[in-house]
Amino acid sequence: MKIDYKNAVSGNLICILLAEGEPPPKELVLHDVKFEGNEGQSFSLSSGKKNILLVGLGKKMRGDDFRIAAGTCVRYAEKIKEKEISIYYPKADEKSAEAIAEGAILAGHKFDKYKTKKENFEVAKIHLVTTKNLTEALGKGGILASAQNYARALDEEPANIATPQMIANAALKLAKEKKLKVTVFDTKAMKKMGMNAILAVGQGSAVPPVLVKLEYNAGSRYPLFCVVGKGITFDSGGISIKPSKGMHEMKYDKTGAINVLGVFKAVAELKLPIRLMGLMPLAENTPGSKAQKPGDIIRAYNGKTIEVLNTDAEGRLVLADALAYAATQKPEYMIDMATLTGAMIVCLGRHAIGMFSDNDKLAQILIEAGEETHERVWRLPLWPEYGKMMESGIADLKNISELPEAGSITAAAFLKEFVGDTKWAHLDIAAVDAISTEHGYLGKGASGIGVRLVTEAFEKLAKSK
Ligand code: BES
Ligand code: ZN
Ligand code: ZN
Repeated sequence: MKIDYKNAVSGNLICILLAEGEPPPKELVLHDVKFEGNEGQSFSLSSGKKNILLVGLGKKMRGDDFRIAAGTCVRYAEKIKEKEISIYYPKADEKSAEAIAEGAILAGHKFDKYKTKKENFEVAKIHLVTTKNLTEALGKGGILASAQNYARALDEEPANIATPQMIANAALKLAKEKKLKVTVFDTKAMKKMGMNAILAVGQGSAVPPVLVKLEYNAGSRYPLFCVVGKGITFDSGGISIKPSKGMHEMKYDKTGAINVLGVFKAVAELKLPIRLMGLMPLAENTPGSKAQKPGDIIRAYNGKTIEVLNTDAEGRLVLADALAYAATQKPEYMIDMATLTGAMIVCLGRHAIGMFSDNDKLAQILIEAGEETHERVWRLPLWPEYGKMMESGIADLKNISELPEAGSITAAAFLKEFVGDTKWAHLDIAAVDAISTEHGYLGKGASGIGVRLVTEAFEKLAKSK
């Protein structure tokens, strides 16, 4: 899908974006039509080959209203099989143009790779009809949404295809295309380094674990940031096996790591003035004669010992090694993304990402980036009392608290033990990794939520220096 700006409409489908209460252009003779322009409202009319769609932006006209409106335009074009859309919005500015590009590209995403009968229809061209040249803003929105779609496609791959090595291969391919440095640590290398927690999680599976490190460098004068993502290619729970209902959704337990790839794609294409290190601990969590067992004690990369009381609390184990390693590289800021706890769904439902940080500046930047991208975060506490709940009687830490309370917070408190004094934020994306019912501009399946948020946060952190 290509998006450009024009100063006149062309093609057979004209979508007119209207604020609440704004009358449609006088040239359109709309006798008995009552169109209020509420957010999400749309109205279509056609004559011969020409089609007109009125789309409401609501009163507040927030960024997401533009994404939803652009998504509505694309969905309508798909319905009437029209390949070209003119989106008429003469008042567009940088922010709304970026959001329109994002909404359109995200709505156009399809995953039909495994269908033998493909639809083969795609909206090819979108023109934003405005008076101002908004090429740059449209380009930025295009980069961010395409990075998110790239993550959605990779995350959708099932566990029999997307093994740790296959995702490492995707990282190698991206690194080659975007001129990134990439290092792949296999089992032997991880043993040597002392990445025992990643190895323990992966030891029950026929497919070996892998740790991938990515590096982007815009110049040595720029600050070093770090992004870490949980990459469990399938989470059966291990010996502490999960119930079978809904277990297939655990193919999305790699979303954090896949989002890291999405962030690198966006950061490299936007040429952000930063240095970025990415870490993706990849493993499959399955039971078997070699699998780790409840009660096992392991020593993580930073030397801390962990009593594994539940093998289903595996995300925090792979992150323990990756975060501890990242901290030794002394990044200025570090963010991790992980589908870490089911308790997140109970806590905030499907509309927010749980955010945990001891650093107010980083937390504030993530909140602002969340509002702008509509990948909203909600800060939860990380007080020392929660850390106490993770102390073990036999080792330094245990991997579950054993109390049915504050599951997302105790998980975050466990991670905190591995970051040292690095300025760090943890994003628990368990509730937003995949979408069960289509909405505004995101369809069913892997959402890629987190890619735009974290990219935007790095851009803000770079500017705030
Ligand atoms: N991957 C899951 C968390 C999850 C659950 C993500 C539902 C998305 C949807 C994680 O590894 C896990 O199993 N966590 C356990 C922790 C528990 C054993 C303390 C959980 O949430 O039940
Ligand atoms: Zn688990
Ligand atoms: Zn998991």
